[in-house]
Amino acid sequence: MKEMNLLATDDWSDKEILALLDRAAKLKSCAENAERALAGKVLLMVFFDPSLRTRTSFEVAMLKHGGHAVCLEPGKGAWPIEMRDKVVMDEDAAEHIVEAARVLARYGDAIAVRAFPKAETWEEARQDQMIKGFARHSDVPVINLESTRRHPCQGLADAMTIRERFGTDLRGKKFVLSWAWHPRPLPTAVPASAAIAAARLGMEVTVAHPPGFDLDPDDTATIRDCLNRSGGSFSESHDLDDAVEGADVVYAKSWGSLELFGNAPAEAECRAPHRNWRIDEARMESTRDAAGIFMHCLPVRRNVVVTDGVLEGPWSVVTDQAENRLHAQRALLLSLLGGE
Ligand code: CP
Repeated sequence: MKEMNLLATDDWSDKEILALLDRAAKLKSCAENAERALAGKVLLMVFFDPSLRTRTSFEVAMLKHGGHAVCLEPGKGAWPIEMRDKVVMDEDAAEHIVEAARVLARYGDAIAVRAFPKAETWEEARQDQMIKGFARHSDVPVINLESTRRHPCQGLADAMTIRERFGTDLRGKKFVLSWAWHPRPLPTAVPASAAIAAARLGMEVTVAHPPGFDLDPDDTATIRDCLNRSGGSFSESHDLDDAVEGADVVYAKSWGSLELFGNAPAEAECRAPHRNWRIDEARMESTRDAAGIFMHCLPVRRNVVVTDGVLEGPWSVVTDQAENRLHAQRALLLSLLGGE
């Protein structure tokens, strides 16, 4: 029988997620060793888009537990992949996702996929067909390395970092997801996953963004569902200064307007007036006791999304966040492939 996928943390129960976070903390502190627990196991990673942290941390996680990771880049050393059903394949793609997923599943113990949005409309992109296609046609577990809608491994590392800083009782702690200006319209996978992570932890979640930059309504509904279970609260704000005041966590992330998805000139025009949506020292000074933490998934554009002063100041935990990708993914791989 096929074991569990991790396409989104939404698909896992609160108990399962909290157990993963506890295990990640034990692995980081060396309270659990599990040195050879993945000996002979192979993770097949398919990257349709670039990565520094995700690729490296998964390769290192497999290595640390005696396993091995193989990395493929379709269109660059591996065949371009077609994901549409019943299509006449007379364009660039030489390989169909059906064969790609079935064959990779014969070679390894899990498949992991990164695929950012490529569609022309949000209606199409939001279906997340590439990651779902791999999951449908693979008979080994599939891990999402960031798709159009979710970046679950980032969400796990974000939750781990918040718990490290503030403990496991996060009632009353204010988490602000702060939209940031960026020269390009970016996907909503990270902001949605970060807000879902904070909601699961029972925080007071505020999503701050200029008008026209709402998250997908289904993602907001998922955040609210998590908060209903965890006991936290939800608010939205169009005023960044007001939102970050008294915050415990400021999580900056840019994302493109979903209303204007696929209409690049109109989307750029909508984003243009909001260059001041950047986290600087004054905004971090206004957090609770001037001691809120600054989070970002990385890579981050210095002095566009956040100032040098914040990244080099006492607030930034971005390197811990990136390190925690490794430990959260060690816990994930041991749970999926460790034979327990
Ligand atoms: N945060 C993150 O996923 O980083 P990479 O894009 O470098 O993998």
